[in-house]
Amino acid sequence: MSERIIAIDGPAGSGKTTTAREVAARLGFVHLDSGALYRALTLAVLDHQVPLVGERIVALARSLPVRLVLAGRSFVPEVAGADVSEAIRSERVTARVSEVAALAEVREWVNQQLRLAVGEAVEGVVVDGRDIGTVVFPEAPLKVYLTASEEERAQRRLSQMGRRVDPEAVGRTSAELSRRDLMDSSRAVAPLKPAPDAVVLDTTGLTFGEQVERVLELARKVF
Ligand code: DC
Repeated sequence: MSERIIAIDGPAGSGKTTTAREVAARLGFVHLDSGALYRALTLAVLDHQVPLVGERIVALARSLPVRLVLAGRSFVPEVAGADVSEAIRSERVTARVSEVAALAEVREWVNQQLRLAVGEAVEGVVVDGRDIGTVVFPEAPLKVYLTASEEERAQRRLSQMGRRVDPEAVGRTSAELSRRDLMDSSRAVAPLKPAPDAVVLDTTGLTFGEQVERVLELARKVF
């Protein structure tokens, strides 16, 4: 199955998830947002007031369960049978997710789920995250590392949330993104970084359509 995987990694707000979703739709592939599973776990941890201990979190994930369920062309995050796609985008989850994602036992469990999920998507899959090309699917034939300036990422994040893009909001959002990037790229296990054979795509100044087109051009050379 690993011959039909596109790995898209990059920092928060680089447009990985929206790009991955569109690229998957255009190629007839399935989209898998790995961050959604870290977020669903974080939601469960907060709701059940479980301490930030890897084994405790994995036990909780198994018992509830926390899952990714294939629905049409994408995977839906579920906690105890309920679709949590909306709930995982809340600020309380965003503020704590990097701490949960830094735990080695949690990452091991998530990686197992991702590898199982990809086995279900026979037509091909676009997976986005932080360590997809480096750790989870190092054999993927196409690895893209998306970046953009911090200011642009903050602006995009605000527009995506339907918020006003004024200088104060950009400053605040940009501080939040850089705090999360620092945690994600300085952690001991699977830190955020491009795979040695990833194509690094700086999307600053590109429109969403151009960004998607660049990835599709790369995909057409491989698939
Ligand atoms: O892509 P996102 O913002 O939804 O991801 C949420 C958090 O999950 C992010 O701060 C880091 C973590 N994450 C990770 O460590 N590895 C992944 N493959 C995907 C996400």
